[in-house]
Amino acid sequence: MDYLAVTNQNRQAINAYIKNHWFSTEMIIRGEIVDMTTVEGVVGMDGDEIVGLITYRIYAKVCEITSLDSLREGQGVGTALLEQVTAIAKAKDCQKVSLITTNDNINAIRFFQKRGFNLVKVHLDAVTRSRILKPKIPLIGQNGIPIRHELEFELLLGN
Ligand SMILES: CC(C)(COP(=O)(O)OP(=O)(O)OC[C@H]1O[C@@H](n2cnc3c(N)ncnc32)[C@H](O)[C@@H]1OP(=O)(O)O)[C@@H](O)C(=O)NCCC(=O)NCCS
Repeated sequence: MDYLAVTNQNRQAINAYIKNHWFSTEMIIRGEIVDMTTVEGVVGMDGDEIVGLITYRIYAKVCEITSLDSLREGQGVGTALLEQVTAIAKAKDCQKVSLITTNDNINAIRFFQKRGFNLVKVHLDAVTRSRILKPKIPLIGQNGIPIRHELEFELLLGN
């Protein structure tokens, strides 16, 4: 498995992957529409095949993960992508890595907490509000749980 930065060379293939997997290149994070075709990222490759993608943006010494997706779950791809971005954030002198997930995403809530992330904020009904901007956001998520809230996690880096 190779982990490569998203660059002008592979950007088109990555954008095609984003469109195929999310049916949209826009994501709403705390009420802000983020264009996923412009954020930085690291892609996991097995030969020519994309097996995972993490995207992020850095501002005010915070590295915000805007997405993390593994196409080969349970084989270490998600952990490797997270480690790559944490290393970039440290090298760029960030104080923390932060991310938002939703209240239904039990899998992500387990995954990030086991990797040192701490729940720091609950944005009550943030997804309910995002649905006004993007009505395609489903009402029901993992395990039949209604999707309503954004949970904010962070990992302090000690910089
Ligand atoms: C959350 C997500 C990114 C995790 O990716 P992943 O590739 O499955 O992650 P890993 O394989 O590194 O770890 C998953 C589990 O598999 C285990 N695992 C990893 N490699 C393994 C191996 N070779 N053999 C057995 N188990 C293994 C890990 O220990 C881990 O379990 P744990 O979290 O209980 O410790 C993935 O489930 C995903 O894409 N979810 C959908 C999108 C999403 O929710 N993104 C996060 C919100 S932003």
